Amino acid sequence: MLAGAFRRITKTAASAFSTTAAATNLPQMPPCDFTPKPFDGMSKARAKEVRATHLSPAMLTFYKDPVYVHQGHKQWLFDSDGKRYLDLFAGIVTVGVGHCHPTVLKAVVDQQETLWHTTNIYMHPKIHEYAERLTATLPDYLDVVYLVNSGSEANDLAMAMARLYTGKYDIVSLRNAYHGLSTFAMGATSLGNWMQQMPTRNGLLQSMNADVYRGPWGGSNCREESSQVVDRTCDCSPGECKASDMYAGQLEDVLKHCTPKKIAGFIVEYIQGVGGCMQLPRGFISKAFELIRAKGGLCILDEVQTGFGRMGTHFWGFEAAGCQPDIIVMAKSIANGFPMGAVVTRKEIAASLTSALHLNTFGGNPMACAAATAVLDVMEEEKLQSHALDLGRYTLRKMEELRDKYPIIGDVRGRGLMLGMELVSDRETRTPLAPEIVANIFEDCKDMGILFGKGGLYGSCFRIKPPLCVTKEDIDFAMAVMDIAFQKHQPQA
Ligand SMILES: Cc1ncc(COP(=O)(O)O)c(C=O)c1O
Repeated sequence: MLAGAFRRITKTAASAFSTTAAATNLPQMPPCDFTPKPFDGMSKARAKEVRATHLSPAMLTFYKDPVYVHQGHKQWLFDSDGKRYLDLFAGIVTVGVGHCHPTVLKAVVDQQETLWHTTNIYMHPKIHEYAERLTATLPDYLDVVYLVNSGSEANDLAMAMARLYTGKYDIVSLRNAYHGLSTFAMGATSLGNWMQQMPTRNGLLQSMNADVYRGPWGGSNCREESSQVVDRTCDCSPGECKASDMYAGQLEDVLKHCTPKKIAGFIVEYIQGVGGCMQLPRGFISKAFELIRAKGGLCILDEVQTGFGRMGTHFWGFEAAGCQPDIIVMAKSIANGFPMGAVVTRKEIAASLTSALHLNTFGGNPMACAAATAVLDVMEEEKLQSHALDLGRYTLRKMEELRDKYPIIGDVRGRGLMLGMELVSDRETRTPLAPEIVANIFEDCKDMGILFGKGGLYGSCFRIKPPLCVTKEDIDFAMAVMDIAFQKHQPQA
């Protein structure tokens, strides 16, 4: 009886939204034949009280009126009132193949009924099956896997391996990078608003970001497979990028002035995710790797956001960059939301960790490995990488149309289904759009049914990084919603 009543409420709330949309000429959300389970959990009002009382105030929540998520299905999220949202942020770039994907779900449930946990002091098949599958997606030389539970933990381990293998200390990253918030990874992260007042920079130092939008160098030809900056020009010939030489020069300068003769390594994202979907100029990473290797350092590519087909053209960001990292780090989409991270490297580098006992209780957990193996199955079966390519290109063109219509959109960038839109109050000076206007646009889009992310040092970049099963109709809907929100909040002349 109660369940029936809730089901009715759920359906009524869901249809109320589309009726409102029709009545007010709001864009129509593409249909979805899925009905969420009746919600019988803690009320949103009570959850807000509990959150204020018992959960850390450091837990960041998006929106003035946060979404109270009840259930997920493919690219959709449903709140406790049954309202449906198009999820264009995928739990921060994590639910790569879609919420509650049946193949992943079945793999986890089957494994749960068989064996939840043992730790690696015993052998179990799943970790071996996964290691074989994962390394098959990589070049032959990246052949040894260490599994952990998160991106920060994986970056910690990768940097530790670089130090142990080289016997050196210094590690360089880029300003505007985000590599996690564990005490060690925080030292590689370089966004002031994420930094705590505590010693984190032990041996970690930063070079100027290769930011072709706001940095001192950049033009209209710096990015591969993306939109170019529209308000800057350059005289580079196709395929050439002088800006990347200039930024590599800055790295060389840091290495000369701030590091000893030999260093442990360099860590970099192919596209800076939290930093606002910031795309590094063509050739920059390869040039940086050359400089680092000349100092004896190892090159670490943080694939936490760029991996697992999201780039569209390639399965991995380092392949898109055309470089050969010594170590790659992954997490997020690896197991579609099951907590997991991985470090993959060459055998001799991996062996550096055997100089002492090493253990990770949950790393390589059988359920995580089952989920991660199923993710690779789904990627293949549903051809999600090529879908990310086609739909990513389509979305980028649609974003360019919005940019050409609204002067507050200063830049659109990214590749595949990792896309960003930078909001400014002045295109000439690139002054970030006032946070309250950004917040209002963000809130209105949520109220009209789309969820996406925010990022960048100024919080002025909208980030579109959906589950890879999103459709063209979804993107059309999202762009129509954004069009209305931009129209409404466009500053009046
Ligand atoms: C590129 C990158 N590296 C590392 C991390 C840290 O991952 P986690 O939050 O799982 O520790 C993140 C998280 O957003 C990330 O975007």
